[in-house]
Amino acid sequence: MAYFKNIKVNNFRNFNYFNIDFSQKCNVFYGSNGCGKTNLLEAISIFSKGRGLRKDKIFNFIKKNEEYFSNDTNFIDKGIEYEINTFSEIKNNKFQKKIKLNGEISSEVNNKIQSLITFLIYVPENERLFLASPTTRRNLFDHFIFSYSLNYNSLLNAYKKNIIERNIILKNNLTDKSWLDKIEEDIAKYGIEIYEQRIKQSDIFEKNLEHISEYLTIPFKVNIQINDSFFKPRITIDEYKHILRKNREIDKIIGGSKIGPHKSDTIFYVNQNYPASQLSTGQQKTLVLLLYFAQCYYLVNYCKKKPILLLDEINSHLDDYNIQLLLKIVEHFEIQVFMTGTKKDLFSFLSTNTNFYNISIK
Ligand SMILES: Nc1ncnc2c1ncn2[C@@H]1O[C@H](COP(=O)(O)OP(=O)(O)O)[C@@H](O)[C@H]1O
Ligand SMILES: [Mg+2]
Repeated sequence: MAYFKNIKVNNFRNFNYFNIDFSQKCNVFYGSNGCGKTNLLEAISIFSKGRGLRKDKIFNFIKKNEEYFSNDTNFIDKGIEYEINTFSEIKNNKFQKKIKLNGEISSEVNNKIQSLITFLIYVPENERLFLASPTTRRNLFDHFIFSYSLNYNSLLNAYKKNIIERNIILKNNLTDKSWLDKIEEDIAKYGIEIYEQRIKQSDIFEKNLEHISEYLTIPFKVNIQINDSFFKPRITIDEYKHILRKNREIDKIIGGSKIGPHKSDTIFYVNQNYPASQLSTGQQKTLVLLLYFAQCYYLVNYCKKKPILLLDEINSHLDDYNIQLLLKIVEHFEIQVFMTGTKKDLFSFLSTNTNFYNISIK
């Protein structure tokens, strides 16, 4: 098991001071709108690297009119207890988030925490996954890839950095062509890697959906296609570079790159060629829940990781089938789960292993 034993938050969002002990299985935060349920999930999500569930600015984490936030937890992995503290700090007039592991701060510590804690996060926007913009789908893919491929975020950042740098050169009509060639070579190299990881993630969904059909009748067969005007499998770096070079003029005008993994989309189909976007809202929810189940199955069985699930407002459109599916996700694996909702009785289907916290009573 990997799990959070407790949390103490200090000057975080709407909380002055708040502490709770968690169940190592299932935890539900309930209470009226605005009471701080999502804020608590966010507080958990920032015990690892990054800006957490909302990807917000660090400054916004700090309670209004306070100077810093500082949250603590005890995290258990394979029987070993770790103290983690995350807090804000000002450096060069900018707010930064720092993490201490057993009192120590360093980049090794950050990497250690990243390999200790794996989050799978569901945000309410995911309910509209198949109707939303391609960005929402790319973000979900990228989040899922990051859950097992720890270098993936560095790859995305390196790619973005090169796109921006190329644009500065194009905009300023800088004439050092070999510099531009080198940047385009890097963009092609990183771009292809990102495409490959996304294709691998599609395969993971498809294969693991088949595996989980052993445990649950799956109402549809799913296939996923990368929808991209430019990418084709086995594209070479030279071909990719050639297209980038050809696009220099247009890219200079649009201020980015017309092609690449930051533009691509993935389309989900059920039963051969029926677009998931045409399913009923509840059926779309089924498909999204299935993706989370499949990803958990992959992480637990193939990556030997125990993800922590943060499921924000998961309980709309839960018919009997979706309840069974959500229960499977919670109970099939030995993993810790956090859920939020406005009322306790929305979660009456959960077993006695669940701790309920009324967040309005602080
Ligand atoms: N930095 C902050 N300082 C004080 N209050 C904040 C801060 N950031 C957010 N809030 C407040 O927290 C509340 C939202 O909490 P949230 O966790 O999203 O609610 P919910 O329980 O509905 O999920 C809002 O009332 C918002 O104004
Ligand atoms: Mg909320």
